[in-house]
Amino acid sequence: MSTSPVKVAVTGAAGQIGYSLLFRLASGSLLGPDTPIQLRLLEITPALKALEGVVMELDDCAFPTLDSVEIGDDPNHIFDGVNLALLVGARPRTKGMERGDLLEANGAIFTAQGKALNEVAADDVRIGVTGNPANTNALIAMKNAPSIPAERFTALTRLDHNRAISQLAAKTGAKVADISKMTIWGNHSATQYPDIFHAEIAGRNAAEVVGDQGWIENDFIPTVAKRGAAIIEARGASSAASAASATIDAARDWLRGSAENDWVSMAVASDGSYGVPEGLISSFPVTTKNGDWEIVQGLEIDEFSRARIDASVAELAEERDAVTQLGLI
Ligand code: NAD
Ligand code: LMR
Repeated sequence: MSTSPVKVAVTGAAGQIGYSLLFRLASGSLLGPDTPIQLRLLEITPALKALEGVVMELDDCAFPTLDSVEIGDDPNHIFDGVNLALLVGARPRTKGMERGDLLEANGAIFTAQGKALNEVAADDVRIGVTGNPANTNALIAMKNAPSIPAERFTALTRLDHNRAISQLAAKTGAKVADISKMTIWGNHSATQYPDIFHAEIAGRNAAEVVGDQGWIENDFIPTVAKRGAAIIEARGASSAASAASATIDAARDWLRGSAENDWVSMAVASDGSYGVPEGLISSFPVTTKNGDWEIVQGLEIDEFSRARIDASVAELAEERDAVTQLGLI
């Protein structure tokens, strides 16, 4: 091992995403084979016993990159000195729950975790939110952590980005590796806008290669935007391994940099780019380097794309207004 250990917190660690995520983190998928990782795992008290079992399994893997594991139910202890916090744990929507109920239940989680991160995380902390509603949860955590720069908070739309690449590859017969510059705009919800008008397939414009506006509108966009629901329908549970994989892709690229001549989709605090109101955590095309991100500028947005971006951003503004009214931000 050549570098000092990195402290990574994962919340909801005993959940289904956690069960995929922890083993990939521990085996070096995020930081590579030369950087030891210290896992700090947060759960609610009733889930700690199950989490102990997961830690026994982590031990049994004897990963050379896994330096230590700590578990607990107190965010002020678990987040102490963390360099990266992956906020996965959230209350899933249950029968009879309205959207507002979900925002309120999760709001309580993300206000407390935002405050704890503000108090005890390392100065260089980066925070990635996977738990739904991811964009607004990230907004709540960000607003409750005034000492942490806003650009350190991101929400996960990389799963949508990966889904869009996979659908485009299947349609065109292209290899996944030949597809670049995919963009997800807006919210991680059914209103998101997966945009292939700036994407490229082996250097050629993807929309031109497809040459079928009907497929883009009636097949591609709804398939990507409703993929989460399709997986719940098929599996009886929401996506977990793919969500864990995307969580790692997003964090890895954030810390280690996006590829040359490409970009990734990440929900970040808007600076007003592309008409998205400042401060909303909205998905954009971004390039990343050494833990920083920059929104790709200068893309032409036609009327078709404008309407879809606006619709998703309007939903984000509604969510922000709802959590403001609840006194969460
Ligand atoms: P899960 O229900 O299996 O696990 C969630 C875990 O979070 C549970 O173990 C629960 O005990 C824990 N938890 C609840 N409150 C907590 C708190 N205050 N502190 C710490 N832990 C807490 O759910 P899952 O399938 O692992 O999914 C987790 C979240 O990720 C859900 O909100 C889900 O909707 C979301 N998700 C997001 C994406 C995305 O692309 N952004 C994709 C898939 C799932
Ligand atoms: C997904 O995109 O798979 C999840 O966000 C779906 C969900 O509602 O948990």
